[in-house]
This record gives sequence, structure tokens and C-alpha cells, in this order.
Amino acid sequence: MSDAIKQQIKELLKERNAVLLAHNYMRDEVQEIADITGDSLALSIEASKTDADVIVFCGVHFMAESAAILSPGKKVLLPRLDAGCPMADMVTAEGLETLRAKHPGVPVVTYVNSTAEVKAHSDICCTSANAIKVVQSLRENEVIFVPDRNLGRWVAQFVPEKKFIFWEGFCPTHERMTAAAVLQKKADHPEALFICHPESAPEVSCLADHVCSTSGMYDYCRTSPATKFIVGTEAGILYKLRLDSPDKEFILASPALFCPNMKLTSLEDVLVSLQTMSPVISVPEDIRLKAKLALDRMLAIPRD
Ligand code: 13P
Ligand code: SF4
Repeated sequence: MSDAIKQQIKELLKERNAVLLAHNYMRDEVQEIADITGDSLALSIEASKTDADVIVFCGVHFMAESAAILSPGKKVLLPRLDAGCPMADMVTAEGLETLRAKHPGVPVVTYVNSTAEVKAHSDICCTSANAIKVVQSLRENEVIFVPDRNLGRWVAQFVPEKKFIFWEGFCPTHERMTAAAVLQKKADHPEALFICHPESAPEVSCLADHVCSTSGMYDYCRTSPATKFIVGTEAGILYKLRLDSPDKEFILASPALFCPNMKLTSLEDVLVSLQTMSPVISVPEDIRLKAKLALDRMLAIPRD
């Protein structure tokens, strides 16, 4: 059954000149049929340079919005319109403007896990893969960082010369991973390294041997001489970690690391989306142009 669906998806992708992008947290079978999988930064770059006519975005709403902002000539499909990100909804453009008014002249760095409207009210975007470099690239010695307080506080440690004003947003999935759960896993597997995402709470990320974006985890685990890892991010990451390093062992740090939004998209949803060419994600032109400036500034920062 699922083989037949996969075949139909492949044929429709070809017929529509469409590219299928999938975030590293997607269900295994969705990652398996994707043309490109990656973290938020890699997928933004792909979306900005693809020559396909259609982008099928298997991820959450803000990711498809970023693709629509960066590729205005293309049709962007989000197979599940209800796949949102609770952290992105924790900051509004009005709230951000109120904060900005209290700190005139202070640049706003906005994590891509945010709405197009919030990006439009920002100076520069960042992802978890480039946040330190983005903050370091700014001339000012103060920054407003929204919406993720955990990513912001993690970045601040590497840029001690700057003063940070944090928005108190967070990822509910990563915050469900407690320090107690991690310490228990470390006690059960003393030889394992602990890696986690910077969306984790500070009391968890301070326990980590390495903190990085989802794609950073693939590189780290592939090249590390260690053979056992406790993994502190959403469970979908395990699919490619195990594929990349079949001889290594990966243990999820907590059973709570499950993002219900990232798990919504099924193969059937992808097929229906390609058949009906919907739901289409678009951004009003005035917002798109302003949000694109913030994303373009981020994309202009050289990668490692
Ligand atoms: P990255 O893939 O950029 O590490 O982001 C994690 C995330 O939570 C996306 O929603
Ligand atoms: Fe949002 Fe967290 Fe889910 Fe990522 S993992 S989509 S930040 S709720």
C-alpha cells in the first residue's frame, strides 16, 4: 500500500516539476521519499535556489512560509495546514513592536520559528545552525532576541560582549525533556555522549557534550569516534542518524521528545496535496518583501 503511494507521489512530483523538502523531524516514510531533507537553514537555502515550479514542504507552517517568502514565483504546498509551531505563535508583531519601542535602536534577531509578519518586523533572522554568527555579525552591542529564550540564552554564552533582551518563548517539545530524565539516561549509559538541540532548557543543555542544530547532529555523530549517543531533540532525528551511522547506537533522551505538529504529515497527505495542488501557502506582498530582507540578511552570512 505505502509502496503504491510512494510511486504515485514520485510520478506526480515529476509531472508537476515539484521538489519535496522534508524537515529532519518528519515521519520516517516522509523523509524516505523526500528529494531533500535538512534543518531549517538547509531547507531555506534549498527553497531559495530550487528551479522547480512547485515546492512541497513537509514541515510546519513557518517553514513553508519562509519558502513562499524566498521563492515568490513558485507554488508552495504545505500538505497539512494544521501543522503549526507553538513557539512561533508565542510572539506577535504588535508585541515585538512594543518591546522595540522600549529599546530604540536595538536590532531584532528573530529565530526562523516565527510568523512571516514577525519576520517582517525584524532586522535579521537566524536558525539554530547560524544564530551565533548572526549575532556576532551585528555592530550594535545590544540585541533583542525572539522568540526562543533557550536558544537566545545559549547563544549569549558565546557572545559575552553583547547585552541580550530575550523574549520568553520556548519549544514545548524540547522543554518537556527534563534534566532528571537526561541524568537518568547518562547513569544508564555512562559511556554515551549526550547531544542536544539549543531549544532545550539551560539546565539540560549544560549537561551536553555537544549542542547543535538537527543537521549538526548528523555531522557530529558521523565524525565522532564515539559509538553511543543520548539524543536530546525530536524523535524524527533518529531515522537519519541510524541510516548514516548503522554501527552506532542512538538513545532518545526522553520519550517526551515528540512534536505532534511535526508528526502530522503522512504519505497520504503528501499525495492528496500533489493531486489537488493545495493547500497553497502565500504571504501578502508587503509582508513578504520586508520578511525577505530579514531572511536575505541571514542567508548572506557565510556558512562554515
Ligand atoms: P533545526 O532543524 O533548525 O535545528 O530546528 C529545529 C526545530 O525545532 C524546527 O522546528
Ligand atoms: Fe515548534 Fe518545537 Fe515542534 Fe520545532 S519541535 S515545530 S520548535 S514545537
